[in-house]
Amino acid sequence: MSDRATVSDRAERSGVPAAPATRTAAVIPAAGRGVRLGPGVPKALRALGGTPMLVRAVRAMTASRAVSLVVVVAPPDGEAEVRSLLDEFPLAGDRTEVVVVPGGATRQESVGLGLKALPDDVGIVLVHDAARPLVPVDTVDSVVAAVRAGHPAVVPALPLADTVKRVAPRDGADATAPETVTGTPERALLRAVQTPQGFDRRTLDAAHAEFGKAVGEGATDDAGMVERLGVPVVVVPGHEEAFKVTRPLDLVLAEAVIARRRANDGF
Ligand code: C5P
Repeated sequence: MSDRATVSDRAERSGVPAAPATRTAAVIPAAGRGVRLGPGVPKALRALGGTPMLVRAVRAMTASRAVSLVVVVAPPDGEAEVRSLLDEFPLAGDRTEVVVVPGGATRQESVGLGLKALPDDVGIVLVHDAARPLVPVDTVDSVVAAVRAGHPAVVPALPLADTVKRVAPRDGADATAPETVTGTPERALLRAVQTPQGFDRRTLDAAHAEFGKAVGEGATDDAGMVERLGVPVVVVPGHEEAFKVTRPLDLVLAEAVIARRRANDGF
């Protein structure tokens, strides 16, 4: 992991001052079961390279000098487990405050519960999936810098490698039948969106107040709710290491990234 001086130098180079006028907090929704990863403990509590995914996600946020508070949204029945995990893997020498609150049935509800736990002096909020434990600090800092530059909603994103097709809803049809393609969006205009997504706090609060009532699975990202408010959302470059650990193959990739970092850090 980068040492403090390196992080600080990088933060200053990217225009993120060490002592902001209003505080920046990160909300980490970590209440999902992660069923696509297979059976076992909740996804965020699984270890990667010996350290739980959630601990890595928290460290990824505290690595940014801009972030002074992290709110972890735990599975509703897993609050105590998350607290003891964070005690077991402390954020060595870090001055960032970390609090744990219970989550909800959907990601959207979990983020809403995290926002309610923020103190009044927080002006900028990052929302970061626990399932993206390897996001580099430079990506976090560039999201914060864009919000500080006046953009109310900022998402890190990458161009797509695959062509994307739209398909017709099945509407009760045979789930094994081939699907009908209804369109091919122009790939050059598509972006795969990552986290942390950064927001002016009042804008995100307004989006959750307006659209926070989760329907079905709820919103898959927070910027989508802000778009529905009619507020502009901008994209900054994401990073390939900010991928979401969703399927078993992603665990293999994450272990490989960690091994490469260890080799590069000289461990
Ligand atoms: O399921 P998915 O991978 O999209 O979840 C993204 C993030 O939202 C994960 O970090 C997961 O823990 C979190 N989540 C949550 N509460 C839920 C469902 C998902 O905090 N009820």
